Amino acid sequence: MFRFKTIAFLIVVASLVLAACAPAATEAPAATDAPAATDAPAATEAPAATEAPVAGAAACAPNCQYSDMVMGFLQTGSEGGWRAANTASYKETAEQLGVNLKFYDSQNDLAKQVAGFQQFIEDPEVNVISISPLEAAGWEQVLKDAEAAGKPVILSDRRIDGNEDLYVTFVGADFIEEGRKSGTEMCKLLEGSESKNVWELVGNVGASAAIDRGVGFRQTAEECGIVVTNSQTGNWSVVEGKQVTEAWLKESKDVQGIFGQNDEMAFGAIEALKEAGLVPAVDVKIISVDATAGAFQAMLDGTLNVTVECNPLIAPQVFEVALAVMNGEGASLPKWIPSIEGVFYMDDPNLAEIAAGRKY
Ligand code: AHR
Repeated sequence: MFRFKTIAFLIVVASLVLAACAPAATEAPAATDAPAATDAPAATEAPAATEAPVAGAAACAPNCQYSDMVMGFLQTGSEGGWRAANTASYKETAEQLGVNLKFYDSQNDLAKQVAGFQQFIEDPEVNVISISPLEAAGWEQVLKDAEAAGKPVILSDRRIDGNEDLYVTFVGADFIEEGRKSGTEMCKLLEGSESKNVWELVGNVGASAAIDRGVGFRQTAEECGIVVTNSQTGNWSVVEGKQVTEAWLKESKDVQGIFGQNDEMAFGAIEALKEAGLVPAVDVKIISVDATAGAFQAMLDGTLNVTVECNPLIAPQVFEVALAVMNGEGASLPKWIPSIEGVFYMDDPNLAEIAAGRKY
């Protein structure tokens, strides 16, 4: 995370240096074509940078502080350990920085999330909006409404489909890569196995995290002959993960691996396997995504083979970006600021030590 904060910081610094030394990039011809400085319009003839409206800039620009920020944040809900850590990251970071955070719990209901978004658009105090979108599709109109109201939007945790000009940036994980890592690890676990039948417990249908992890998993898993023989949503939950696995086990026990697109659904599968008389992580290899404290406990208990990290502690990056936007620097930001993530193994001799050092 530090590396990407540094990159974002360097981008902002570089843009400030360029702005101080040269005419704005959009106004000047490319350096190789540029006529001598004397040919360029004189500063008095060109509109000064401060006079031109800068998308998303607040009245306090270019000197806005965190105390000027009122952020409306639309959380998905509270479906598990990852989400709890992500919510805590927002609330704790806002308090540390002095940001006024208006927190909206969408309760995993898309209609509620859209209503909450409209609420923030209409709230005169809110000057920047951040959202962890429940689904990838269907945001065009609300984003246009936010733009019309002059409220910049920062996507957090999950990407959306559609016009990227309608939001400032996306701060979050590479879900395809998380899926790929999971597929690679499942290949290692099933090396030498005659059959490679794997069941996949999917997150909420339509969420970018669910779509992309599924795509990435297949990309690497299919290379070693894994066949995904069952795939169904468990809505990120322990209860549904268990119910779905139980139903599959009633039909067949010919399964060598289970891929839980998050920790909670894998926990549900572990319970179902035990109740069916199978030994999780031995008879059936299990991989999950998130790397929450619960996953570390399951690995220490010997019931989960691998967890692929999805980092929920992204609020500091979101606030940093929001401040840059308020200060009129949004156009210089990349459209995606990814988080850095690792992979953790049940048989790592340092597992207990790693678990003790983690924040969530
Ligand atoms: O978008 C991240 C996903 O959302 C997490 O992997 C899952 O646990 C969740 O709630």
